[in-house]
Amino acid sequence: MTNPITPPASATPRASQTQLADVSLGAVRTTAPTVEHHDEPLGIGEERPRLSWRVTTGARNWVQERYQLAIRRVGGGTARGAEHGDTTGWIDSAEQVLVDWPFAPLAARERVEIRVRVTGEDGVESPWSPATTLETGLLAPRDWDARFITADGPGEPDGPAPLFRREFTVRKDLLSARLYITAQGLYEARINGRRVGDHVLAPGWTSYRHRLHYQTYDVTELLLPGANALGAMLGNGWYRGYLGYWGARALYGDQRALLAQLELRYADGTEQRVVTDADWSWLPGPVLTDDLYRGEHADLRKEPAGWDRAGHDAARWQAADVLDTDPRILTAPDGPPIRRTETLPAVSLSESSSGTTLVDFGQNLVGWVRITASGGPGTEVTVRHAEVLQNGELATRPLRTATSTDTYTLAETGETVLEPRFTFHGFRYAEISGPPGLAIHDVEAVVIGSDLRRTGWFSCSDPLLERLHENVVWSMRGNFLAVPTDCPQRDERLGWTGDIQVFAPTAAFLYDVGGFLASWLRDLSADQGKDGNVPWFVPDLMPTPSPPTAAWSDAATVVPWVLHERYVDRGLLARQLPSMVAWTDCAARETDETGCWRAGFQFGDWLDPAAPADAPSAGRTPPEVVATAYLVRSAELTSLAAETLGELETARRYTELAERTRAAFAREYVTASGRILGDGQTAYALALHFDLLPTPEQRRHAARRLADLVRSGGFRIATGFVGTPLILDALTEAGEAHLAHRLLAQRQAPSWLDPVTRGATTIWERWDSLLPDGSVNPDGMTSFNHYALGAVADWMHRSLAGLAPAAPGYRSLRVRPLPGYLTRASARHLTPYGEAEVAWRLDDGAFHLSVVVPPGCTAEIWLPDDRVPEHVGSGRYSWSVPYPVGAGAQLQRTTSVRSLIDDEPSWTRLVKLLQSIEGVTFADDRALVKLAVPNLDRSVADFVSRLVADLRPGRGVDAAEILAELEEADPHA
Ligand code: BGC
Repeated sequence: MTNPITPPASATPRASQTQLADVSLGAVRTTAPTVEHHDEPLGIGEERPRLSWRVTTGARNWVQERYQLAIRRVGGGTARGAEHGDTTGWIDSAEQVLVDWPFAPLAARERVEIRVRVTGEDGVESPWSPATTLETGLLAPRDWDARFITADGPGEPDGPAPLFRREFTVRKDLLSARLYITAQGLYEARINGRRVGDHVLAPGWTSYRHRLHYQTYDVTELLLPGANALGAMLGNGWYRGYLGYWGARALYGDQRALLAQLELRYADGTEQRVVTDADWSWLPGPVLTDDLYRGEHADLRKEPAGWDRAGHDAARWQAADVLDTDPRILTAPDGPPIRRTETLPAVSLSESSSGTTLVDFGQNLVGWVRITASGGPGTEVTVRHAEVLQNGELATRPLRTATSTDTYTLAETGETVLEPRFTFHGFRYAEISGPPGLAIHDVEAVVIGSDLRRTGWFSCSDPLLERLHENVVWSMRGNFLAVPTDCPQRDERLGWTGDIQVFAPTAAFLYDVGGFLASWLRDLSADQGKDGNVPWFVPDLMPTPSPPTAAWSDAATVVPWVLHERYVDRGLLARQLPSMVAWTDCAARETDETGCWRAGFQFGDWLDPAAPADAPSAGRTPPEVVATAYLVRSAELTSLAAETLGELETARRYTELAERTRAAFAREYVTASGRILGDGQTAYALALHFDLLPTPEQRRHAARRLADLVRSGGFRIATGFVGTPLILDALTEAGEAHLAHRLLAQRQAPSWLDPVTRGATTIWERWDSLLPDGSVNPDGMTSFNHYALGAVADWMHRSLAGLAPAAPGYRSLRVRPLPGYLTRASARHLTPYGEAEVAWRLDDGAFHLSVVVPPGCTAEIWLPDDRVPEHVGSGRYSWSVPYPVGAGAQLQRTTSVRSLIDDEPSWTRLVKLLQSIEGVTFADDRALVKLAVPNLDRSVADFVSRLVADLRPGRGVDAAEILAELEEADPHA
């Protein structure tokens, strides 16, 4: 990590560092271009896809000066141009990310190779990059000959998953074959007895009334000269299964339907198409019932042998009906499909108290159980799932009506591998009954999720924080499944807008969500009301429109801006701007004559620990404070987006709205001295982080008040969904980063680490999803896999490790680590320009920092206590500066109580000393905090004397002794 030519630590690291940051020579190479946000650009929907590339070079300060792109048509067509096909001229530009397509628009089914080469400021040309092959899918309704076919009559939302089939003949000179396919429901396609592709739960979930994804598979290898069979099985999925927490089903329609178009290309240039139409036939299949929430029942004896191969006797099969579905809803995906992403072995297999087999996978996850079972024809195998155990049994109450039970009836003697097809579960534990002699190696957990590319990593010296981070990653994996969901286990699993609004920055660091969330935003725009209102969840399912709701509906402005900030995606901003504008206008219409948004339903600071268990919106912060603050935020982001796109008049309009609302906020909710209505941490965090306080005086007071509230809360969490993602930033910006660390390091409930100390492997929905006695919170809304409160990981990346974007796409990095109580931390992120890394450690009285800045980027480097940053270009760097650990922390009698509280070791010591006085007991340290709060500005000596006098009047306990012990002991040792 350390650059060998970096000078040793010196008293003036800056001077020596800057000298080194000269351009030096190094070979420059470019990666194969990437296409939009696709990892696998097969069947893409863009006729003018934007291109990106990363440069690798050992040279420092490398910036692209020019680039050149080449295109070559492949796959049976004639090459366009010579060696590299057509090329653009050299284009003078430093842009490397999502640059506009410079060639003629692509046609449907066109396959081309793209390469790039670049020069830096020295004019030296890189070699041509490796080629990326991209292929467009079907781009318009006219490209589809296939019709949707069904086995279901209208009004019959039950019945086994149907099998569909069709035989056809393939000639010997087949060059290539593509299957374009989708379903109303879920499909699993097969050709000649083999599974097509490795997607699961395809076609995924979108706002089906407006958009339905189709997938493209290269199936050349599955076909044979002569007779072939194409088949598919259809499940209910999101289309026709139960969906939503109010018991609804078949929300999109009651007829499952298949759409498939197989296109064959032959060496002589001719084509053949096999498409779904009235010539297909169907038969009920072995999956008797299937539902995402309830699970699946398959009777394997009912699978007709060889149904997916040519030559099957189809006498019993019936003709399929053709449906009139509008092909304009068909669209190619922007992000990756759902796949099996990992398999986990069982960590224990035991007998439950009721005598069934209980399996623990050691990790709360999303997917299903794969069992290798034996037992002979007719044996029933039942698998039930739960996230936690209670009294040695599955705790299924948090599943509500999602019974999450898979049942199989075996068909054969010998071993059968069992996996469901059209369901998924959120679980750590499974209970299996039925198969005799099950051993631990017969059981594994299959993890599924949208197959996103990992781009971000974090590590530090506190193993509990590392586990917290790991839990965030697992909650993201479980809830990024076609759309970003709230939780994966109960009868909900919906695209709650508020949850992703707060989690998007964390998500965009950990995984490449550029395509995944762009797709979800298309759904958001599609589901947005004519009045601009954004539904509570997207895809929207509500029987009647949900009311405009602050911090939830604001996903319309926040998520596009986060994506632009992380991926420098102007195209996305341009596409979402009308939606941003419409939402902000809608929210603005909710304001009254005061200019604040005070009326109507709000979730408020949802799940503030102070809110009653059954009224999660009734926290400390008045909902109108949240709503008005978020209106400022949305107006500002809309203005920023418009400005980025050069729409200056729009930008001005929303800046004015932001200013007006900011003034209204201050007028209605903030006193002259900086107190804010509700006087809770979330209110201050919003006001400080969203910059809602007009005078420096008010800002100072608010910052101080927030810090005192955090102290007086005993460094326990006192914020919900809205305040929790902001509180550490607000403290940091207020110059109280040490308090941010205290909050994060807290292990007592409510805190981020409390669940970790109690064995959590994902982020819980509630601070007390498990109650202090270890029992499951009895409220029906209790999940153990909700990413929202894991939004804190973004602060860990940006501030704790110190790797933040200072310009869209991390073109400029802000490296500003906050050591706090840790001795090391690091973050690594694959930015659109290349890999960036920040790693620091405290060692030998010094702070050592190493940084990797990707080619094309710059960085501002803030060493501890810096008031101005140093600027560097791309390259690897390291710094070392003196950093005496624990200095200034030695306690004095004159130290203020405020500082005493802030110094965790001294404070804990005082608590212990007082507890040791005979007869004195505190429930916990918060009892002492309560006593300390009115005395924050007194000296420690004064406070301890008063305290001892109050606690033990006339019992001869000496305050001086306590003070002496407090001073003497070195609690930091
Ligand atoms: C969901 C959420 C959501 C909330 C809003 C819950 O049922 O699980 O996470 O944001 O409702 O009220």
